Amino acid sequence: MFDPVEILRQPLTFPFSGRTAKNRFLKSAMSERLATFSTFDPCGRGQPTKELVRLYETWAKGDIGIIITGNIQIKKDHLEATGNTIIDRDLPSHYLQEWTDVARAAKSEGSLVIGQLNHPGRQVSINIQPYPEAPSDVEQPSTGGVLFGRPTPLTREGIKDIVHRFAYAASVLHKAGFDGVQLHVAHGYLLSQFLARRTNRRNDEYGGSLVNRARILLEIIAAIRQAVQNLSFIISVKLNSQDSVPEGLSIEESITVAKLLESARVDFIEVSGGTYEQTTRSPQDKPYTVETREGYFVQYAEFLRPHLNLSKIVVTGGFQTAQGMADAVSRGAADIIGLARPLTAEPLLVRDILRGEKKKAKGDKFPESPMLRFAASAAQIAEIGNGQDITDFDNAFHVARFIAKMQKEIPAAISEALFSRPS
Ligand SMILES: Cc1cc2nc3c(=O)[nH]c(=O)nc-3n(C[C@H](O)[C@H](O)[C@H](O)COP(=O)(O)O)c2cc1C
Repeated sequence: MFDPVEILRQPLTFPFSGRTAKNRFLKSAMSERLATFSTFDPCGRGQPTKELVRLYETWAKGDIGIIITGNIQIKKDHLEATGNTIIDRDLPSHYLQEWTDVARAAKSEGSLVIGQLNHPGRQVSINIQPYPEAPSDVEQPSTGGVLFGRPTPLTREGIKDIVHRFAYAASVLHKAGFDGVQLHVAHGYLLSQFLARRTNRRNDEYGGSLVNRARILLEIIAAIRQAVQNLSFIISVKLNSQDSVPEGLSIEESITVAKLLESARVDFIEVSGGTYEQTTRSPQDKPYTVETREGYFVQYAEFLRPHLNLSKIVVTGGFQTAQGMADAVSRGAADIIGLARPLTAEPLLVRDILRGEKKKAKGDKFPESPMLRFAASAAQIAEIGNGQDITDFDNAFHVARFIAKMQKEIPAAISEALFSRPS
């Protein structure tokens, strides 16, 4: 009998590095927030902990073709969140031993392991960094009760410094045994900010035309190759299909960037979408952004496919059923399926799907609130790292208890955003 899951069991070889993923699943980046953090001493930050190692040991058992870490920051005082891992040449240590332990844990069952590198740019809470740096001084509007500082535009020297920091971080991960890196060019962080006219008002060679706005990205890729000197090191990019805000990256621009990335020998492009500003998006953007069928960005991937000859496409976001995942691959939209939240509820979900023991991801009893689902996954990540049982949010009692805890712990303004229905 025809087995729809068979297509997901097929290995896949990447075109430029020549590396092979054992199947068609990828664990998408999720900020673990399990590194050391000191508020006042930036040197006491970013060190991978034993909890982080335990988390990756757990996912390693899940038979996932490719495991991508949560975003690793390249500057110790520009964080996406407290508890981020950091590789910064200005820290007293680049934590090579700790990263080697993470790589060994994640690779122990044959997964490829890739470190995601990021700089938040302007998209960082004022409580973490009141003086953010960004392409231009366009301030991020407050969302969900979170305030953002007015960014200082990066100088040319500042941009060069960032390029070298990405390359430095990649070289540390390479030494630690990682199979590659992924650049975070999605969800409104620094490299996304460069790509979008909305946030990039520069009139030097890093602003203006799309090629100029993509320049920093291509310089980072070239610098990583120079620093790593290993043709089999995978370079990948997580790219927004579109930003869904006025003057944000459009679908057409995103496709052009993907073509530039293929020319820069990027092995795979992981397709995602949206930014934290998205609550301000206009309703007419909606149908264009998120599809009603499973896999939010499958339709965009179908648009993108004919424009790429070699680079592979990973589609992440909203997958729930083995059938939906297999369909996206067999239709030719995706080469690989990316999963994030389903793998915090069930770290072994991929293994169970591949064995034919499960046909869909566990559901949950949350009211419609993307922020709440995000917080729930973050809590599950901490539980896995701490060796605790994973809370079952398919249980209404656990959901009610979690919501009550969150309402007690977080400021009222954030709570309002978390618990309101999205527009
Ligand atoms: C707790 C949490 C942390 C996340 N952190 C990151 C991150 O560090 N980098 C990133 O590119 N995406 C991050 N994401 C987004 C996911 O990678 C993914 O794109 C999104 O959750 C949609 O996939 P899903 O529907 O399978 O969850 C995060 C998501 C969650 C739930």
